[in-house]
Amino acid sequence: MSCVLGNLHYIVPMSWEERYQVGDTPWDKGAAAPPLIDLLQESPAYFGSETILVPGCGRGHDARAIAKAIPTAQTIGLDISVTALKLARTLDPDSQVEFQQVDFLTEGSFPHVSAIFEHTCFCAIDPSLRPSYAEACARLLPAGAHWIAIIFLTPRDIDDPTIGPPFQSSVPEITELFSPHFNLIESYRPKNTYAGRKGKELVMIWQRK
Ligand SMILES: C[S@@+](CC[C@H](N)C(=O)[O-])C[C@H]1O[C@@H](n2cnc3c(N)ncnc32)[C@H](O)[C@@H]1O
Repeated sequence: MSCVLGNLHYIVPMSWEERYQVGDTPWDKGAAAPPLIDLLQESPAYFGSETILVPGCGRGHDARAIAKAIPTAQTIGLDISVTALKLARTLDPDSQVEFQQVDFLTEGSFPHVSAIFEHTCFCAIDPSLRPSYAEACARLLPAGAHWIAIIFLTPRDIDDPTIGPPFQSSVPEITELFSPHFNLIESYRPKNTYAGRKGKELVMIWQRK
């Protein structure tokens, strides 16, 4: 969105809520992330069977895939956008996912969390606020539980002048934020991705100390 003030031309970034209201959501591929589908088939134990949180769930494709694969767990999708959550609830009314409006950085208290699944929420957070994201994960996960992340390392080419989220993320940044409270269990390039994301993603499994 842009606007003209006098002879100045400003780029005004849309909020997440506005983006869902106008349907400007290019990150939403209409289906769960392929690396998640593979992980649910190959290593479901990482998710545990208690409460599984999906921060920044958007329209809930990933959360629904988790709930379907692990029906014994309670999967909770969290987002700040009311409209995203409204859309998430209508996409499959039979899904067992619970959707809650929560600012993951500052709100939310959940008992017995066995995993947090991350996909394109971390990269959407302003880098200066990411320590709060890591602190929320450390606060919500008990010892032995997992932060399971599909990290979108390079949302756009490094010289793309587009301002705003999703921002770049890097392995050193994640290691610095998570290693004080988590041990890295696995890290790999996923073999299956959405079209156009090949080589841009990394799956990481971190276990709470
Ligand atoms: C790039 S979108 C990804 C959505 C979803 N994971 C997907 O792949 O379709 C980032 C999402 O994070 C949500 N979000 C941003 N900041 C948040 C916060 N502090 N707490 C919870 N959700 C947040 C946005 O509303 C948006 O739905």
